[in-house]
Amino acid sequence: SRIVVLVSGSGSNLQVIIDKCEQGLINGEVVAVISNVEKVYALERAYKHNIPSHTLTHTAFETREAFDHELQKIIEKYSPDLITLAGFMRILTPNFVAAFAGKMLNLHPSLLPKYPGLNTHKRALENADDVHGASIHFVTSELDGGPVVLQSAISIMHNDTPETLAKKVSKCEWLIYPMAIKWFCEGRLRLHQERVWLDNKKI
Ligand code: GRF
Repeated sequence: SRIVVLVSGSGSNLQVIIDKCEQGLINGEVVAVISNVEKVYALERAYKHNIPSHTLTHTAFETREAFDHELQKIIEKYSPDLITLAGFMRILTPNFVAAFAGKMLNLHPSLLPKYPGLNTHKRALENADDVHGASIHFVTSELDGGPVVLQSAISIMHNDTPETLAKKVSKCEWLIYPMAIKWFCEGRLRLHQERVWLDNKKI
């Protein structure tokens, strides 16, 4: 499968996806990396693996729709089977989401439906939650609201801080994102009637 990865920052999840594809664990290939922020390390990671990359600075566009339309055109040039948002910090318009419905996954650093949006680690601590973690979901027009594919949880310890939690959650992300992508590339994972199906069973 042909995978396009959208990034905004360090690209630690991009790196895991690249590595698992190169190791043959994911039956796929990252064919392009697109960032909405210049000079982020994720672009360096793409360069090191000879993967074409594009930077689309959203400040150069008048509207969210104009940005998304340009982004869609770039993505479509690569005829992807799957688009993965990996640390991509943009809210996408319904038209863009509709163009890739059922073939776009997102990673979110919380146990959805808890804490959609930002500052998830801080919020989990403030709520004195016992557990926290990461989620992979299909992207729908609802922010961080699409049907969940896979989650990984960790215990929150009394001395945890947002930083220590972020580190533990990253390890969850690096575990579940390749797993979900592997399933998708093997044709085992589908979004159907707004529900997630794995091996033709609703999960
Ligand atoms: C991660 O915390 C991820 O959950 C969030 O962006 C952060 C960085 O991701 N969406 P990456 O290292 O750029 O993959």
